[in-house]
Amino acid sequence: MRPSPPTTPRRPPGAFPPGFAWGAATAAYQIEGAAAEDGRTPSIWDTFSHTPGKVLNGDHGDVAVDHYHRFREDVRMMADLGLTSYRFSISWPRIQPTGRGPAVERGLDFYRALVDTLLEHDISPVATLYHWDLPQDLEEAGGWPVRETAYRFADYAALAARALGDRVPVWTTLNEPWCSAFLGYGSGVHAPGRTSAADSLKAAHHLNLGHGLAVGTLREVLPASAKIAVSLNLHLVRPLTDTDQDREAARRIEAVGNRIWTGPMFKGGYPADLKADTAGIVDWDELVRPGDEAEIGRPIDLLGLNYYNPTVVSAPRGDTETAEAARNDGHGDSEFSCWPGSEDVVFHLANDDVTAMGWPIDATGLSDSLIGMHRDFGLPLMVTENGAAFEDVVGPDGQVDDPERIRYVKLHLEAVAEAIAAGADVRGYYLWSLMDNFEWAYGYGKRFGIVHVDYETQQRTPKASARWYAEVIRRGGLA
Ligand code: FCB
Repeated sequence: MRPSPPTTPRRPPGAFPPGFAWGAATAAYQIEGAAAEDGRTPSIWDTFSHTPGKVLNGDHGDVAVDHYHRFREDVRMMADLGLTSYRFSISWPRIQPTGRGPAVERGLDFYRALVDTLLEHDISPVATLYHWDLPQDLEEAGGWPVRETAYRFADYAALAARALGDRVPVWTTLNEPWCSAFLGYGSGVHAPGRTSAADSLKAAHHLNLGHGLAVGTLREVLPASAKIAVSLNLHLVRPLTDTDQDREAARRIEAVGNRIWTGPMFKGGYPADLKADTAGIVDWDELVRPGDEAEIGRPIDLLGLNYYNPTVVSAPRGDTETAEAARNDGHGDSEFSCWPGSEDVVFHLANDDVTAMGWPIDATGLSDSLIGMHRDFGLPLMVTENGAAFEDVVGPDGQVDDPERIRYVKLHLEAVAEAIAAGADVRGYYLWSLMDNFEWAYGYGKRFGIVHVDYETQQRTPKASARWYAEVIRRGGLA
């Protein structure tokens, strides 16, 4: 049989469509600092990072990279790199301290000034509403496992959209809700550090519901031209072998890793197999109320993918497999699982070509993901995060030569180009991260930036990868 002709003209690998957004990404708690300024109150990440033993070296985001005070310098740096877009997140407790009630104008003023400075430099802002910093007060009222939090999130979304909607063209609701639910409430390696399988599934539903409610609110408040998105870390799951058992393991991880989000968001509801896998943990009929799935399924305009590495899994291997190996999923160490209902699945992290996080370098997972998402959801896509940590060394001349990061980004940009050539409608690429920052449970120990930050002096120095990326942007691609 002859292959059917591609639906869109094929572009040579390395070519990117006109108007492609060349971006970099950050998140509020990882960069802003100013933790107690201008009315901001603690988020779950402030509390968690100040709890001994939770974050490497006792690091926290009190000062971080002081972006709150240095944003003008940082935006100039973005402009020097030629970025056409910048993805940042809004700190919920900075603009609505207790997670309830009116907005704090001083908090909003910071984002107004940031966005205005970006626009002055022709950098198009993409605002993420939730990159993991739930107001601590809401956690104390039950956090994401309680339904009320979803409604609080939609109210906060409205406050942010009213203040910034006239100047932010692209909004994403949640960043990686999988991490919020399963690392935050399941394995406990992220804030708030709770370890209950049932709570993690309840959190997942209420994050979904919060997303849907927020989409509804954003549509009411934002101008019609605004685009609404969500950023998911969909796992590119591969079975270790082609046996039925390993394929079943992959199915389970896809269900609780991916389809728990994409089912209700794009396919009309939670998948039956996910509900069956987790039936002993939560009562889905009680958790999901009539109308919830329709709410979660409100149409969005763009789908963001955060991609770092593929996920290879197999069925439980019996005695030879240690419990430790079974949990070697790249998502931190905990005796509690972040895969409720599928705790026995074994993860296989390749270890021959890895980043400083121990994450395998395999860009085929990015092209496969984008092509699969295009096929399955038919939405315009953005790569809202991709990048790598390496052990950067500052040379005697003060410069950082980081060929490994250049190689990583180049391979992944080639993968994006390949997906575009195969017909995926990919609108932008946001490198994680603009600059070194607070890497959650790893503190300041892992550097993902293309700009080096000296944490003593806060001096920013573009690494070789930043200069390389600037050149890619100038040429409009890799060719
Ligand atoms: C993602 C997070 C981002 C950053 C990268 C390395 O999971 O969204 O904040 O930590 O990983």
